[in-house]
Amino acid sequence: MADRHVGIRATGSYLPERVLSNADLERMVDTTDQWIVERTGIRTRRIARDDEATSDMAAEASRRALGRAGLDPKDLDLLVVATVTPDMPFPSTACVLQERLGAFGAACFDLNAACSGWLYSLDMAWGAIAGGRYRNALVVGAEKLSAITDWEDRNTCVLFGDGAGAAVVGETPRPGFISSCLGADGRWGRLLYLPGGGSRHPASHATVDGRMHYMKMEGKEVFKQAVAAMSSAAEEAIRRAGMRADEIACFIPHQANVRIMKAVAKRIGVPFDRFLVTIDHCGNISAASIPIALDEAVSDGRLKEGDAVVLVAFGGGFTWGAMAVRL
Ligand code: ACO
Repeated sequence: MADRHVGIRATGSYLPERVLSNADLERMVDTTDQWIVERTGIRTRRIARDDEATSDMAAEASRRALGRAGLDPKDLDLLVVATVTPDMPFPSTACVLQERLGAFGAACFDLNAACSGWLYSLDMAWGAIAGGRYRNALVVGAEKLSAITDWEDRNTCVLFGDGAGAAVVGETPRPGFISSCLGADGRWGRLLYLPGGGSRHPASHATVDGRMHYMKMEGKEVFKQAVAAMSSAAEEAIRRAGMRADEIACFIPHQANVRIMKAVAKRIGVPFDRFLVTIDHCGNISAASIPIALDEAVSDGRLKEGDAVVLVAFGGGFTWGAMAVRL
């Protein structure tokens, strides 16, 4: 099984219809369009309808990816959803999605590695298929971050959006996945977290009154660590691939802040025009950011078959990762 080539066979994505602009946010909290654009690069983000859950967005993105791959959902044997905003604690959003797609029988689970979740899931799917025990995987990143955003906190509410991205992963005629490098450091968990609603602080009137069901973030420290971890992960993935940075057609970073992306580009010595940017119209969609950006660039022809790309992420945990992939 060692010579089995595994890669991304097709992608799909979905963004909800409602656009939330910086001007809209100016009416909600004490902020300005200028501050948001200068400090983050975000102009608009999409917000899901009240009746639209993470699995609904995941289903749209998944149908598009499966359609492009020409794969019947019944032929999936592995379905992973990377998310920090599952429909509910259990059953997994992957099981809910399986029911929606009719992919009965496939092994299903959710993976939580915050903003690095889709890369973690992709790495796991690669291993599962390369090992020969699975054939066709659907790897989804889907988030309804608007559901865990404190809309009264200007430090966080300007940053996030909703959406989903998916990839069909399977055997490919030549190597798709080239290298991977994942890591985490749990000592930094409290810099980016959601304290309420779990077994530590079960939902109660007190947790709701304390706004504990919303994301909390120490932005400045997260920023510094994100630049350092993403830079070294990208460099390590390129090194493990036996490639040079100038052989990489495109870098697809997690979309947390355009200044983080620029700092990473500078640190690894790559011109910023080789970094894919969707944060201007998507905001930060955690685990869905990278698959949405990838699908956007494949769909509009910016990325073509045979292009080598580096996907690189950083998120709560802290978690991070980078993968070199040939499309
Ligand atoms: N509008 C206007 N002013 C604001 C806003 C806002 N929306 N938000 C904060 N400010 C103010 C602050 O109150 C502060 O004012 P003060 O100096 O009077 O106290 C000032 O702006 C500067 O605040 P900083 O926090 O220093 O701003 P910074 O330049 O660090 O930008 C930001 C903040 C955008 C959050 C940045 O730190 C960042 O992007 N951090 C990383 C985010 C990230 O990578 N997250 C990881 C992934 S997310 C996930 O895993 C779910």
